[in-house]
Amino acid sequence: MDTTSVAASILPSGPDRMTVRKMPFDFTPRNESWNPDKPEFAHIVNSASLAMPYLEPYLIKSMRKARPLIKDETLLEELDKYIKQEATHYRRHKEFNDTLSAKGYASVARMEGTLAKDYAKLESRRSLRFNLAYAEGFEAMALAIGEMLIDDREYLFGDSDSAVASLILWHFVEEIEHKNVAYDVLHHLHPGYFLRIFGLVYATSHIFWRTGQGYRALLKEDGLWQSSKSRWKLLKVLGRVMKSIIPKWLRILRPGYHPKSVKDPSWGVEWASVFDEGGSDLAKLDTRRLHEAVPVGSTIEMRL
Ligand SMILES: [Fe+2]
Ligand SMILES: [Fe+2]
Repeated sequence: MDTTSVAASILPSGPDRMTVRKMPFDFTPRNESWNPDKPEFAHIVNSASLAMPYLEPYLIKSMRKARPLIKDETLLEELDKYIKQEATHYRRHKEFNDTLSAKGYASVARMEGTLAKDYAKLESRRSLRFNLAYAEGFEAMALAIGEMLIDDREYLFGDSDSAVASLILWHFVEEIEHKNVAYDVLHHLHPGYFLRIFGLVYATSHIFWRTGQGYRALLKEDGLWQSSKSRWKLLKVLGRVMKSIIPKWLRILRPGYHPKSVKDPSWGVEWASVFDEGGSDLAKLDTRRLHEAVPVGSTIEMRL
């Protein structure tokens, strides 16, 4: 691996910055949490994962409805790649979510039912304008969350189950790759600051509310919600996450905001490059060496 070429790589703009990857994760159900040191954080992630097989198909349907209205060929190419990336994301999340169900969490099916209804209602009752604003609100937030997860990956995912950590980090590397698409589609069809901010506030409030319901239910099932020690650990990790996200979230409120002005995290670019050269055998990251973008069992050494 030529480290200099990777370190110098900058993702291009346009459809070439996106790659659709097949990720063969093997989510072996285990008795303990996939992140034994941080079960509270694990349940925040688990809860967010429950939304993906409903939220991401909703985004895809909104983009497909927008497609015939778009006159820009480059944007159409980007939109098609966006759809392909999101389609692989929610399928892998569904496989992971099914392992949570298989472990016996009753709240998984309940939350899935609620989320399925939420997104069916948004799709059938709201205008395309609203749905595209929601899509950009979600994508703007996903970009901020992706930066936070990558910045803090060693603390949040260190020594955790490689398949789950890799699922999340892969997903957000690709969220960062397609960061411009929903913004550009919304701007192309319905430009306007207040609509974009409305979409951001609505999508953020909706997703944070449902994620909160989900992790509370999962923590209750584990008997952790009742523990003051666990509640304190939950507050600490939420505080840490929000401290990183809030400044990034405020940046989105600027009238001149465009996601292309947000720098791609070098670790994400490097990991994508390792995977794209090495193929699916490299899908699982070594969670004991997250400083580097190193797959399990690899002897590749890269310093950022
Ligand atoms: Fe996604
Ligand atoms: Fe996305």
